[in-house]
Amino acid sequence: MEKPEVIVTREEIAKKVAELAVKIRKDYKGKNPLLIGILKGSFVFMSDLVRAVNIPVEIDFVILSSYGAGKESSGKIKLVKDVQTPIKDRHVLVVEDIVDRGLTVRFLMDYLSFRKPASVKLCALFDKPSGRKVEVPIDYVGFTVPDAFVVGYGLDYDEKFRYLPDLCVLEEQK
Ligand code: PRP
Repeated sequence: MEKPEVIVTREEIAKKVAELAVKIRKDYKGKNPLLIGILKGSFVFMSDLVRAVNIPVEIDFVILSSYGAGKESSGKIKLVKDVQTPIKDRHVLVVEDIVDRGLTVRFLMDYLSFRKPASVKLCALFDKPSGRKVEVPIDYVGFTVPDAFVVGYGLDYDEKFRYLPDLCVLEEQK
């Protein structure tokens, strides 16, 4: 069994979320943006972010999944649940917990762009550049994380550890 070790504390996360919120508030004031969270991982970040942004926003979610469980997956992205709000001419901000290979957000940004929103940008709390397979610009980024399997603050390993308030690394127990 593996034991999670904290690498980003809940206090550091809260401070970063507040900083990101200041930028988003400034950029989207008066634009009634639509924030689209990618489930399941983004549910914790989304709920903290919208309260910190504290301007009128609308919220929707998509469910995307990579095939396979555990730490490895095939690289194919599947749309399990679409956005319910019409996005044509809307200012859309995609809210993601982590960009790793980049495949999930690349898929969604392309998919949303096809429907002609007024703008579409990406906010990701964690960025793992070492995992990147496709390039995707991140407009609002929180932390760069190392090449390790991270869990907590919404992120899972096999559906475990999402509830942890800190970002943790799974490491082998000695
Ligand atoms: C995780 C994470 C991101 C995605 C990033 O989701 O929450 O959405 O992987 O991966 P990528 O950049 O390598 O494409 P996952 O597919 O595990 O589903 P979950 O959000 O339900 O945990």
